[in-house]
Amino acid sequence: MNRNDLLQWLETTDPSRLEELYAEAYRIKREHVGTTVYFRGIIELSNICQKNCLYCGIRKGNSRVERYQMSIDEIAQTAYLADQMKYGSIVLQSGERQDEAFAQFIEEAIHKIKRVSEGRLGITLSLGEQSRETLQRWFKAGAHRYLLRIETSNESLYQKIHPDDHSFQERFACLSMLRQEGYQVGTGVMIGLPFQTLEDLADDILFFQKEAVDMIGMGPYIVHEDTPLAQEAKDFDGKKNLELGLKMIALTRILLKDVNIASTTALQSLSPEGRELGLKAGANIIMPNMTPTKYRKSYRLYDNKPCLDENALLCRGCLENRIDSIGEKIGYNQWGDSPHFLKRDRH
Ligand code: 5AD
Ligand code: SF4
Ligand code: FES
Repeated sequence: MNRNDLLQWLETTDPSRLEELYAEAYRIKREHVGTTVYFRGIIELSNICQKNCLYCGIRKGNSRVERYQMSIDEIAQTAYLADQMKYGSIVLQSGERQDEAFAQFIEEAIHKIKRVSEGRLGITLSLGEQSRETLQRWFKAGAHRYLLRIETSNESLYQKIHPDDHSFQERFACLSMLRQEGYQVGTGVMIGLPFQTLEDLADDILFFQKEAVDMIGMGPYIVHEDTPLAQEAKDFDGKKNLELGLKMIALTRILLKDVNIASTTALQSLSPEGRELGLKAGANIIMPNMTPTKYRKSYRLYDNKPCLDENALLCRGCLENRIDSIGEKIGYNQWGDSPHFLKRDRH
């Protein structure tokens, strides 16, 4: 598939053609990564953020958010629960902070998670842009995967959806550093952003291919009413963005074959069956929410985020049923590294 093919598929809205596309992506998924879904329990450990991304509900400038930070003990208890629930790995996510106190806090949290799970839990970080020293420190402490979305591979669009002091080049440089420091690297984009063209999305997929990433986590853009970008998204169409999100998953699977692709929560915000549809279109990873219920309402990156009143056990049960309903299995107690990572030359 070349750029033109990608573009043609992104333009397609005919349901029967799209069924063919999803079926082809599913065939490739079955062949290259299988139909076992891997869980990554996600702990949203703090909504304190020093950045001001124009799309995000927990941006620094949003004074309507009640800020929180979980304690090390709360994080360790939640990780213990993930281990008990047989999740092979967890994701630590939070707003971005680059101060020393935060670096140290995370280092300690990683050590403690390793201890309470007796080394079993795989640890993925999703903590924004960081210095090489910090990334090394966290790797040494025991984290081995990192998710850092490029948000869009189009530099001028990147500038439009971020304030002036955010830099595409720095984001990109951080992605390269992650790989150099030995992490399995995940990236991704938002789909259906204001000002974004189908050409941009085709280029995003080619970007994933060129950068040879191990994991992709991408999802539809969803308006958050208390953000500046909401002004530019008056014609927001959830149905359209859901379909675009599914097409992006399918095309990425067809092109990249053996990477891990997440069926993200944003898909579920746009349709109750959104995450199953993501799996059917080629995704193989799900990140069940493990954040303690009392914090969930404060970690709203976009409107209509699901599971705000649920807890980790309810989300697990819910997802088990959903995965069962499409005839797939769950890979309990496994790290579920992507075949792509296992094959790639890391030296
Ligand atoms: N809609 C969809 N995704 C969003 N994110 C932040 N705000 C939104 C939104 N309004 C995503 C970004 C970020 C990730 C943590 O959440 O891609 O990298
Ligand atoms: Fe902060 Fe991340 Fe939201 Fe940007 S997307 S405001 S860095 S939490
Ligand atoms: Fe949380 Fe369904 S995934 S309740």
